[in-house]
Amino acid sequence: MSEQTFNAMVLREEDKKTKAAIESLTFDALPGEDTLVKIEYSTLNYKDALAVTGKGKIVKSWPLVPGIDFAGEVVETSNPKLKAGQKVVLTGWSVGEKYWGGYSQYQRVRGEWLVPLPKGLTTRQAMMIGTAGFTGMLCVNALEDAGVTPQSGPVLVTGAAGGVGSVAVAILSKLGYSVSALTGSTDKHEYVKALGAREFVDGPEWADPPRPLEGQKWAAAVDTVGSKVLARVLAEMNYNGVVAACGLAGGADLPTTVMPFILRGVKLLGVDSVMLPSKDRVMAWNRIVIDLPGDLLDGITAQTVRLEEVGAAAEAMLAGQLRGRVLVDVN
Ligand SMILES: NC(=O)c1ccc[n+]([C@@H]2O[C@H](COP(=O)([O-])OP(=O)(O)OC[C@H]3O[C@@H](n4cnc5c(N)ncnc54)[C@H](OP(=O)(O)O)[C@@H]3O)[C@@H](O)[C@H]2O)c1
Repeated sequence: MSEQTFNAMVLREEDKKTKAAIESLTFDALPGEDTLVKIEYSTLNYKDALAVTGKGKIVKSWPLVPGIDFAGEVVETSNPKLKAGQKVVLTGWSVGEKYWGGYSQYQRVRGEWLVPLPKGLTTRQAMMIGTAGFTGMLCVNALEDAGVTPQSGPVLVTGAAGGVGSVAVAILSKLGYSVSALTGSTDKHEYVKALGAREFVDGPEWADPPRPLEGQKWAAAVDTVGSKVLARVLAEMNYNGVVAACGLAGGADLPTTVMPFILRGVKLLGVDSVMLPSKDRVMAWNRIVIDLPGDLLDGITAQTVRLEEVGAAAEAMLAGQLRGRVLVDVN
């Protein structure tokens, strides 16, 4: 097997610039972790787009095989909780940032990072969801854990046509929430409406800093954008409203005041998918199977790309030209 070769995208740093190339690797080149996985699918997430294009400081060690998530089959393992032939999913744990990731036909990873493929999902479907969709589910869980129900009132999703946003809209709508959506362009409305959004709140005001408090509109919100957008979301929350914040597609800053928190009791909840404990991952994956029906999932995946096409898709993602999820078929 050590003579056999397979394809992977490898990122190298040359003159402080990121160079991405598809390389033919042998198994000896893979990291010395305990579990070898034959990868079936990976996906393109916002973080992958930043890593592959070199436009964000994502890569922590060079050279690196990017891809922050994948699904596939265990080939060999010394982890007693896994066995050869078992289908598995990986998201997070700094894979695709610090450790070699999913843009490869094979990868060696720590067995403890793998989650058994949830019953009812194929590896393709698991990656149609991917880290972005998984995070959308975590945002919905965070809101509900804070006491939000469909009766609480309207829920706003920002970046609603993106990967996290699309899944959040679909799940919330299926659960009976009245979902309002913020997107970057009216071209995306039809797509987001098909996922269940009832109205769109796009308007020029989102480009401006809000007043410390604006009119109260939302019982809850999922924010994937950050910066001025999150500041306006906070200023527009109802008394005791709850915001789940997971992203920075519009910037990592947060130009807000304490007013929404101290005068309206607004709660800002941070959501992280990378270091989430394993037991919470299994619960979230199992919930996705129930709350994200297959027909909605089909609608969320805009395109499937090969390893050679990931670079162009990454550029399009950062330019805000994509909608939904991008599946990467590594084979
Ligand atoms: N915390 C975590 O564990 C975690 C996990 C996954 C993702 N994330 C973060 O969540 C964010 C979304 O990820 P994703 O995979 O869904 O990315 P994505 O598919 O690119 O979606 C991001 C969406 O944000 C909107 N957007 C992009 N640039 C914007 C700007 N300058 N101003 C306002 N809106 C803008 C666009 O929404 P429209 O298409 O509606 O216009 C875009 O589709 C990213 O910041 C990502 O890093 C965090």
